Amino acid sequence: MPQPFHIRPATPADMPGVASMQHACWMKAYPGVLDDSFLAQLSPEGIAGYHARHFHENGNHAAPGMPFFVAEAPGRANPIIGMVRGGPTRAESAAGDTVPAEIVARYPFELFGIHVAHDLHRSGVGRALFTQYARAGQSLGHNSLVLWVLSNNAPAIAFYESLGGKPVGSSPLTLGGKAYPQTAYAWSDLVHLRRMT
Ligand SMILES: CC(C)(COP(=O)(O)OP(=O)(O)OC[C@H]1O[C@@H](n2cnc3c(N)ncnc32)[C@H](O)[C@@H]1OP(=O)(O)O)[C@@H](O)C(=O)NCCC(=O)NCCS
Repeated sequence: MPQPFHIRPATPADMPGVASMQHACWMKAYPGVLDDSFLAQLSPEGIAGYHARHFHENGNHAAPGMPFFVAEAPGRANPIIGMVRGGPTRAESAAGDTVPAEIVARYPFELFGIHVAHDLHRSGVGRALFTQYARAGQSLGHNSLVLWVLSNNAPAIAFYESLGGKPVGSSPLTLGGKAYPQTAYAWSDLVHLRRMT
């Protein structure tokens, strides 16, 4: 039977649960996608600290224009079973990789990250989080959405394509000193997406 869950805005108190879920998810999903040496230096504490920065000046809410949702399944040891977050489209990565200017201009709203507890993949949690994020974008006045996915992350690409995303560009992402190919997926009509999800 599918795990009952609900989606709600994230709060700073969720960050340890988000980071624990995300770290475990990456350790299962990313070997072979990212180098082992890069994965080995990640920690739940580091991920929690990274996400917590988005709350520092905004109390209990993510920064304006930067939706951050969690999926919660009460009763699990870690009830946080998924997360999605994003905001205005970034012109460059943390390591300084430049994003093609036409993508930034054409798609001003970006999904930065979406992760689901590994044991619950293919349960519909990712689709529900993505739909909630797209709705939040519409509420902010956006009708398009872009995201970047590592070009060898086949399950995530299958997920985005199932939701109607189309490849619109490519650009490398530098992580741990190595450049990985990335593909941009975009949705040009969130109203249409809403009808199909
Ligand atoms: C990508 C991710 C968020 C998808 O979440 P999910 O909850 O497993 O996805 P859903 O169950 O909502 O899947 C919706 C549809 O997407 C497609 N899909 C999802 N995962 C797929 C896979 N591994 N292979 C093929 N199709 C897939 C299917 O069409 C699926 O519908 P179906 O199960 O009825 O056939 C999740 O796999 C994940 O956390 N991956 C690791 C982290 C990651 O890669 N994040 C994205 C970074 S860009």
